[in-house]
Amino acid sequence: MGRIDRLLAAMTLEEKIGQLNMVASSGAVTGPGAPRDVAEGIRAGRIGALLNLWGAGETRAVQRLAVQESRLGVPLLLGLDVIHGHRTIFPAPLAEACLFDPAAWEKTARAAAEEAALDGVAMTFAPMLDVARDPRWGRIVEGPGEDPWVASQIAAAKTRGFQGDDLSAADSLAAAAKHLGAYGAVTAGREYASADLSERTLHEVYLPPFAAAVAAGAAAIMPAFNDIAGVPTTANASLLQGWLRRRLGFDGVLISDYNAIAELIDHGVAGDVAEAAALALGAGVDIDMMGDAYARGLPEALRRGLVGMADIDASVRRVLALKERLGLFDDPFRRGAAGAGASGRRDSERRELARDVARRAIVLLTCARGALPLSPKIRRLALVGPLAAAPREMLGAWAAAGRAEEAVSIRQGLEAALPECRIDCAAGVDIGSGDTRGVAAAVDLCRDADAIVLCLGEAASMSGEAASRADLGLPGGQRALAEAVLDLGKPVVALLSSGRPLALPWLFARADAVLATWFLGVEAGHAVADVMTGKFNPTGKLPVTWPRCVGQAPIFYGQRPTGRPTKAGERYASGYLDLPATPQFFFGHGLSYSRFALDELRCVPGRVKAGESVEISVSVHNDSLAAGEATLFLFVRDLVASLARPILELKGVRRIALAAGARGRATWLLPVEALAFIGPNLEPVLEPGRFEIRVGQSADPAELLTGVVELAP
Ligand code: BGC
Repeated sequence: MGRIDRLLAAMTLEEKIGQLNMVASSGAVTGPGAPRDVAEGIRAGRIGALLNLWGAGETRAVQRLAVQESRLGVPLLLGLDVIHGHRTIFPAPLAEACLFDPAAWEKTARAAAEEAALDGVAMTFAPMLDVARDPRWGRIVEGPGEDPWVASQIAAAKTRGFQGDDLSAADSLAAAAKHLGAYGAVTAGREYASADLSERTLHEVYLPPFAAAVAAGAAAIMPAFNDIAGVPTTANASLLQGWLRRRLGFDGVLISDYNAIAELIDHGVAGDVAEAAALALGAGVDIDMMGDAYARGLPEALRRGLVGMADIDASVRRVLALKERLGLFDDPFRRGAAGAGASGRRDSERRELARDVARRAIVLLTCARGALPLSPKIRRLALVGPLAAAPREMLGAWAAAGRAEEAVSIRQGLEAALPECRIDCAAGVDIGSGDTRGVAAAVDLCRDADAIVLCLGEAASMSGEAASRADLGLPGGQRALAEAVLDLGKPVVALLSSGRPLALPWLFARADAVLATWFLGVEAGHAVADVMTGKFNPTGKLPVTWPRCVGQAPIFYGQRPTGRPTKAGERYASGYLDLPATPQFFFGHGLSYSRFALDELRCVPGRVKAGESVEISVSVHNDSLAAGEATLFLFVRDLVASLARPILELKGVRRIALAAGARGRATWLLPVEALAFIGPNLEPVLEPGRFEIRVGQSADPAELLTGVVELAP
């Protein structure tokens, strides 16, 4: 008998359910309900997993209770939201998506895993893979943006990074990809609301990143809080058992979201906790995070015949198998073993990585000629706005073990980069209130400045979980401050720290340059300074379409065509009376101090069969005096199909570094199978016909080069 069989045979029902029970400790609060005193539960075998605890000493102490003081000595599974770094906080995921660089995505996950594992953590509730097309939804900041192809690349890179080559290694974390379903599609961007979407869109847009995580070996998956068309994901047997376990062959652990099993009662699909527990277990959910629903409900569900012991055993087996894969039975203390300060030299490497990724995450949204980089002649700079000297805010949501005192504010970054320059700083207003009494003094500070930097945006707490916003403007009195400063008529660069695109057409029209600086993490200030001074030529590209106005949400480039395509000046065409249908900035937009021109798009051969590939290439010319990096997007459009196919579908991205004046070619080898889609029967189909190949620097259709490939029958 193997270890798992032996343990299972020895366990009481209470101990089995204990293995399925994850409870929050007092380390951090990430949901409703008070953290519990967990010691007694661990000793009694009623708690098999904990979340929100880290630190070598703290984690060893609870692990000791489990392995030395519980009857069967089964080690605990310790999970934490290590979302964009652990102690070294990297840019928020949406910001990191702007790099379009799988190697970098993997590196930051690896670094986070190393740090978190040193702190005794064995599982991260990441990567967050919810495609999001509605910037009202606060959790858009935690994820990959709007595109399923990008999200799938991120899924694979992050899973590899967190888990490393060997899950049992002392520096590996189990990745719990979340939140399976269509959490990003909640109605009107309202947190925890229902999502109602077609099966086709679910399979085409929202599920591919999870398939990619499974293919990359993700150890766990977390279903989302919300329901899809009336079926809460936590109870969605056809999605979890059918699609995930049977179709994809996922045999890892399904872990509920925080209290989500008990909330099946509030969803109105379970009459009591026994029914809730039975629904979730029946759907294949193994671990109950903070719901206490399995502990309270499963014994009664067994009595009523709603679940069988075999179902409970199957879940316990999967949990024990994960603990085994993590090496916890062999050495429960291998993570957290090194103690504080053990990471030494690696700390500075991680800071360097954080700086590099942060500056590459910055998106130069607008830039009038000569506005940036800052002229070396500038002697006096005014730094104005509530985010100028706000180190904590730079970390963003889910900052895990990050520390405000270790974060570099924009002010500190610019001061370090411009020692010769006098920098005057004033908040002017705060983010939360509409109080504008500080505006006049801030404007005074700007009068003698050579240039002004406006540091505007959202507080970190305004995006992330439970942070939906109905308005995409600047909170508090910031607009009043910005307009008063702009009225001075001096050169103004605006930095937007935010977890989502903000609809600020007036700012884009008036400021000389605007940069999306998101939540860039511990190295935020240095990264901003690198870009503003020209030490780093910006390369970040938008992973989301940026609306002009909240009324355009949800907004994304991959629209289906309509019978009456958008046409300026045409009344009976798809659009709005009061606004253009086009966004403020297209998906993929992002300027640099270089200028790139594309030509000579080639698609060879022009006619292909299933099983073959097309070589697509384009010539790129750096038509400027600055060395830089271009990012090229490859889109396709299936011109005539059995279903209306999106106008653009992303199939590949290339980044190419070019010296001033240099030329290069970007090439893709596109397998014909990449042209398949979810057909009328919800199964993938490859339909012969003509496909447009479109290549450019963003999803702006007016700027894309076009070629054609024909797929022979
Ligand atoms: C969030 C999850 C998170 C969990 C644990 C929940 O409220 O939705 O993303 O992993 O809390 O902190």
